[in-house]
Amino acid sequence: MASQDELKQQVAKAAAEYARGGIIGVGTGSTANYFIEELAKIKSRIDGAVASSEATAQRLRGHGIKVLDLNNVSPGDLEIYVDGADEITEHMHMLKGGGGALTREKVVAAVAQKFICICDATKLVPVLGKFPLPVEVLPMARSHVARELTRLGGQPVLRDFTTDNGNVILDVHGLTIVNPVETEAKINQIVGVVTNGLFAARPADVLLLATQEGVRTLKR
Ligand code: 5RP
Repeated sequence: MASQDELKQQVAKAAAEYARGGIIGVGTGSTANYFIEELAKIKSRIDGAVASSEATAQRLRGHGIKVLDLNNVSPGDLEIYVDGADEITEHMHMLKGGGGALTREKVVAAVAQKFICICDATKLVPVLGKFPLPVEVLPMARSHVARELTRLGGQPVLRDFTTDNGNVILDVHGLTIVNPVETEAKINQIVGVVTNGLFAARPADVLLLATQEGVRTLKR
């Protein structure tokens, strides 16, 4: 039986086949790290990468992959964004941000033409919310946002973490997210919220799911 790490490696390898040239958007987390290793093997084929976090940028550079500023990249050149998820549904709605990089991940994903989500099978769920929903918040708005999230039925817990953007994260427990598009918009409207970890308005386009029987490809 393949371990979870072996499954992550397999799905990263499958994603590298989508990297046929141009600039690649690269996510954050342990699965994305395996993808960076695969990308390093084919770096002569690509023009560079856009990173979704400082950690990813550092890792890419460590592998000799050029890191570009998103502001200098035209959407036509950013064909794919490859990233993991904490949870994903068969509708390709995702819950992300376990690694705290949700805002930059969402920005890079917004520019890329295609979002390729790479996960092991444990991440596929019928309903989002069992994994606490990360919400990036301006530090001075922390208490206000926490009260508002409680009114929405969640139990926010402050993470001991500062984001790459200098903000804090509230992990919201106890939500059963039956309408992710609506919940994403509602939470983003709370004053002081930078963004939340629901990726539903812009879901994944392709899900590469590593199972014990091999990598499954699901498309939207
Ligand atoms: C980081 C993320 C990651 O994609 C998510 O946490 C999954 O991580 P991993 O691949 O380590 O399971 O959203 O902010």
